[in-house]
Amino acid sequence: MRINNKHYQTIWLKPEDSAVVQIIDQRLLPFEFKIIDLKNIEDIFVAIKDMKVRGAPLIGATAALGMYLEVLKIADSADFVNLLRNAGEYLKSSRPTAVNLAFAVDNLIHSLINIEQSEKRILVARDQAMLVVNNEKEYCRQIGEHGLPLIEEISMKKNGLPVNILTHCNAGWLACIDYGTATAPIYLAHDKGIKVHVWIDETRPRNQGARLTAFELGQHGVPHTVIVDNAGGHLIQHDRVDIVLVGSDRTTANGDVANKIGTYLKALAAHDNNIPFYVALPSSSIDWNLTNGLTQIPIEERSTDEVSYMEGKIGSRIERVQILPDNIHVANYGFDVTPARLITGLITEKGICKAEALSMKKLFKK
Ligand code: MRU
Repeated sequence: MRINNKHYQTIWLKPEDSAVVQIIDQRLLPFEFKIIDLKNIEDIFVAIKDMKVRGAPLIGATAALGMYLEVLKIADSADFVNLLRNAGEYLKSSRPTAVNLAFAVDNLIHSLINIEQSEKRILVARDQAMLVVNNEKEYCRQIGEHGLPLIEEISMKKNGLPVNILTHCNAGWLACIDYGTATAPIYLAHDKGIKVHVWIDETRPRNQGARLTAFELGQHGVPHTVIVDNAGGHLIQHDRVDIVLVGSDRTTANGDVANKIGTYLKALAAHDNNIPFYVALPSSSIDWNLTNGLTQIPIEERSTDEVSYMEGKIGSRIERVQILPDNIHVANYGFDVTPARLITGLITEKGICKAEALSMKKLFKK
């Protein structure tokens, strides 16, 4: 998508040096636009852990390219398979909830363990990593196509008045490679001249909504309003929201969805007011091994500093200020699980299905 009218993806191989991965450092957005080089698996690990890149599809793509960078180093090692598996476990330990990470790493390991020649190992690692990048991009484009009719239908019912969409966190192109998941149908509708307006939850504590979703929608000219996380229920009660569109970090085979902390509360408010609540996700975010999201999905707990301090711009510098008293107990859960019963449907690259085992299996021919 566009930044200052120039097209960008979130991750790519450096044109002049394919042994270097380049990303937009998302910790600095929207105040600073900085492209940084990732040169080895340690750089990749830190980029994921410290959230220079974030969002399930992008985390998966970054990990895949991280495995490729490690293969460049170990390709002619006699202990290749062990080193490869260790690299995979290392990257998987960076963040636990987004299943795209393990999905990408395991696929890469699977495609490499029976290859003997070092040159071929490097070629296959690069091709497989780029396949993850390009698949994620195409999945999001298709999610946009399948989600668009949901917005069109509401727009027709409202005789062309703006369709009010509530979204939580950033499930936009900055969380993917391009297009986004929850944002993909929104961009398509806007580009088709359908009036839309997006309520964006700020999404404490790291404010992915206020800082990233508002930034990317603004760059594309999509009307939006940032709200505090607790305002969504009130807006839903007062018919100011026509549909809720969010992303997913891990969806179980029965349709339970883990997403940014606070998503569950929006689902409850939508359910209580009969407002459609859709989750947009690529198949790489589905964990077919799990059948109970509440008991089986690992929920990340991050540093309490993310809650105790707030980042913002003072003059031209990004500064951090303490917002909580000293010496108090703080907890920082990164995700929650919305049970399938509260979800109207899943928007995937293959189409829309109910958040239930049978519909999902049918759609993905499982
Ligand atoms: O902690 P983050 O910023 O990685 O959390 C991101 C989310 O919860 C997104 O909604 C999710 O990854 C889907 S991204 C298409």
